Amino acid sequence: MYQVIARKYRPQTFAELIGQEHVKTTLENAITQQRIAHGYIFAGQRGTGKTTVARILARCLNCELGPTPTPCGKCASCTEIAAGSSMDVIEIDAASNRGINEMRELRENVRFRPARDRYKVFIVDEAHQITSEAFNALLKTLEEPPEWVVFILCTTESHKIPQTIASRCQQFSFRSVDFGQLVSRMEWILGQEGITADTDVLSVLAQAGEGSVRDSLSALDQAIACCGTNLEAAEIRTLLGMFSLDSLNEVAKALVTGDSHRMLEVVAELESNGRSLQHFARELARYFRNLLVMKISAKETSLVAASANEQKKLAETASQFSEEDLTRHLQLTLDLFKDLQTSLQPRLHLEMGLLRMVHAGRLVPIEEAIASLSGSGSPSPSGGGGRIPRPAGDPPIARFSAPVPPQAPPQPTAAPMATGDLRARLHATFVEAKQMHIADAIENSTMIESGSELIITTPKIYTLYFKEAAFEAALKKILGRTMKITIKAGEASAAPVAAAAPKRDDEVTERALSNPEVKRFQELFPDSQVRTVRNLRENER
Ligand SMILES: Nc1ncnc2c1ncn2[C@@H]1O[C@H](COP(=O)(O)OP(=O)(O)OP(=O)(O)O)[C@@H](O)[C@H]1O
Ligand SMILES: [Mg+2]
Ligand SMILES: [Zn+2]
Repeated sequence: MYQVIARKYRPQTFAELIGQEHVKTTLENAITQQRIAHGYIFAGQRGTGKTTVARILARCLNCELGPTPTPCGKCASCTEIAAGSSMDVIEIDAASNRGINEMRELRENVRFRPARDRYKVFIVDEAHQITSEAFNALLKTLEEPPEWVVFILCTTESHKIPQTIASRCQQFSFRSVDFGQLVSRMEWILGQEGITADTDVLSVLAQAGEGSVRDSLSALDQAIACCGTNLEAAEIRTLLGMFSLDSLNEVAKALVTGDSHRMLEVVAELESNGRSLQHFARELARYFRNLLVMKISAKETSLVAASANEQKKLAETASQFSEEDLTRHLQLTLDLFKDLQTSLQPRLHLEMGLLRMVHAGRLVPIEEAIASLSGSGSPSPSGGGGRIPRPAGDPPIARFSAPVPPQAPPQPTAAPMATGDLRARLHATFVEAKQMHIADAIENSTMIESGSELIITTPKIYTLYFKEAAFEAALKKILGRTMKITIKAGEASAAPVAAAAPKRDDEVTERALSNPEVKRFQELFPDSQVRTVRNLRENER
């Protein structure tokens, strides 16, 4: 009969157990010193060894050669416990036996000495599911336990165990298992099973479990069922709905280059390959989490569940972003993941979310913005401590401003083309190119045409992002020829570019002005003015 790998390879001794060192050591010492408590709580993430350790502890206590931290594994007690048939080790699934009657029965049972062994061990799985009456019954037992009784309450939700119970038990917390240890354990299991696998396979499976050994081993079962005795990472990723680092990296690359179009392609590729967009969003959030952790820890770390090689790649990518950028992207991917859970239009949501990230990447840290406003220092966008290199002409401030329609009426003109008209057409060109930041900046600039030279005067904050090249290219498109571009910093009180400029929404303005953050800012900078208020929500749609 086929036995699932998780059960077949359930550790029978402390030595076989991976991770949980603190639990192991404490219990081993307690057994050696014969200081056995009557109640234990094993709390922690699912599939990390709670039930396993409970059984090992039962063996340690009841082995013929015991109590010993190294049970023999051969005596009747040891073999029966492994098979789950020991009279004196009673496993109760609280999920199905949660009521008062079961607990009363248990109390009766507790009073009798063990049938054969030293201890009567009650392993209560899913202990948090016990009803409160049943807990009360259990409490009576724990208050005056017969010397031979040991309770082990296993739970993933220890906060649901009443304090009265918890305070009479020793608590152990089970942590998710270290990536490297899990990989070695699975490598060993594959060896036992005579299965070969390429280098990435173990990493994929270890990640699939999200720290739960059982889940990783179940994924391994699934992989064997699907691929046979030779496992391939690519196939297993598809099977488990996971994504390679390279495919996630595409998103990071598009962010670095501010390439909105590439983002849309990424989504199109996912769809045409029949990949789940929900899974992608989930993996993307995890990916940015990993990038952020790599950025912060700046060296190989057990906090990131990935092989050394993958960690190196992640670190390389992370170095192209600032910590703030990564934090923001993580937040956005988490929102995206949440949205996609319930979305009826996952593609639309994913596209919008990814585009939003491209825009968010263009936000400038507040310090830089302030520095450039006050004119102190040279707040170059790439000089701000490892910020991402922005594409040419890219923006200081991302705003989802309402696009001004390209066909908007130009300024009154004189033939052949007045500068006002040129300004409007430049504006329209950048709107069309979805470079809203430059378009916004144009709204706040004046332009004077003098011969073959175009002099653009703009508030200092924008000068950083007005790249001559971008204007030359745009002018070439509009006029069919290039002009010399001169960009000057200065107060430019520009006329509105187009009649269709965003309308003010009085209510929104009022709300924005009464925002505590805004008020605080105004207190800090008494000379500051609020120039425009934009309703981002409305414009995002
Ligand atoms: N620390 C570990 N070392 C080695 N194998 C482990 C470990 N934890 C779990 N496993 C494997 O996972 C399987 C399930 O573990 P176990 O039943 O002990 O998890 P659990 O913590 O009780 O989970 P749950 O909360 O879902 O009941 C075991 O049979 C074993 O194969
Ligand atoms: Mg369990
Ligand atoms: Zn034994």
